[in-house]
Amino acid sequence: MRDHHHGDADRPVDQAAVICGIGAELPPTALSNADLCTRLDTTDEWIRSRTGIAQRHIAGADVSTEDMAVSAGARALRSFGSRRVQALVLATTTPDRCCPATAHAVASRLGLSGVPALDLAAGCTGFLYGLATAAGFIASRMAEAVLVIGADRLSTLPARGDRTTVPLFGDGAGAVVLRRGQACEDGAIGPVVLGSDGTHGDLIQAPRAGTLRMQGSEVFRHAVDRMASASTQAATAAGWRMQDVDRLVPHQANARITSFVARQLDVPAERQLHNIHSVGNTGAASIPLLLAQAAADGRLKAGHRVLLAAFGAGLTWGATTVTWPDLTP
Ligand code: COA
Repeated sequence: MRDHHHGDADRPVDQAAVICGIGAELPPTALSNADLCTRLDTTDEWIRSRTGIAQRHIAGADVSTEDMAVSAGARALRSFGSRRVQALVLATTTPDRCCPATAHAVASRLGLSGVPALDLAAGCTGFLYGLATAAGFIASRMAEAVLVIGADRLSTLPARGDRTTVPLFGDGAGAVVLRRGQACEDGAIGPVVLGSDGTHGDLIQAPRAGTLRMQGSEVFRHAVDRMASASTQAATAAGWRMQDVDRLVPHQANARITSFVARQLDVPAERQLHNIHSVGNTGAASIPLLLAQAAADGRLKAGHRVLLAAFGAGLTWGATTVTWPDLTP
């Protein structure tokens, strides 16, 4: 347990990274299951019943990962009320090119030229890896505040015409600002649990755009096991019991995966947040996009104890806790 030592001059208050800004971006074009049926041998019923997805947003050919990251990042900075961040972490599986990294261009377009910026690749767990990295920058006193963005154009990874993967993925971005604060404050990120296992790297692979290969049912099994166990570890490390969790925010990979995770954790339906039906799997954008939407529409309120969990290619997984702060997206 982290303690707050009131008035104890010899022992400093526990420091933490605190969420103090949030924003998101969805490309305007929504592609419904019915639209997909005109080009794939599939049905709306198959996609909905196996995945929970009704539509996904697709970035136009002229919209890059950088563009979506800039839009989400700008909104998060506006919600923070300042551009005073000293580092930028961009979690993405779909950078715009091999070199240079996308994060530098994003930083410059946000008026942050000169700050350290990096791309971080950890599949759909990238945002939680990004939170941990940013919290480390803050703990090491390299930065007072850090912009963490998750942005992906996962719709570019499947092979055209592959009905087993095309319906699953959409495009988008989400971002938060973390600042130095105290562990007792609303918005403080709890201990972050992260893991990876490259021996199963072959289960989700895309050597380049348009070549995704995925072993769906194996991925499904690992995703449920890893998200459930990481969630349990993160809650325990934060000193929470599962019945303390007001909102479970799992990476939106598939509605069946997230409902299995919630069942294993014994989190009832009214405490689970979803947006998979309207956005599909948006990769590293998934969690911050869902947080931003839920904070905006009231499903997520200040004081809610939130458990975040993710899983992705790598394989990678992670979880952490946060008591939701009073924020305007
Ligand atoms: N429409 C119609 N039929 C489809 C289809 C589609 N879009 N996609 C696959 N099928 C067919 C298959 O061809 C197969 O047919 P067959 O039995 O004649 O060969 C049948 O449906 C079952 O395929 P299968 O792959 O076993 O289905 P599934 O129940 O495992 O569901 C997934 C497939 C992809 C929905 C599921 O495995 C899944 O969600 N996996 C996790 C994916 C994921 O979330 N990845 C990202 C992690 S970050």
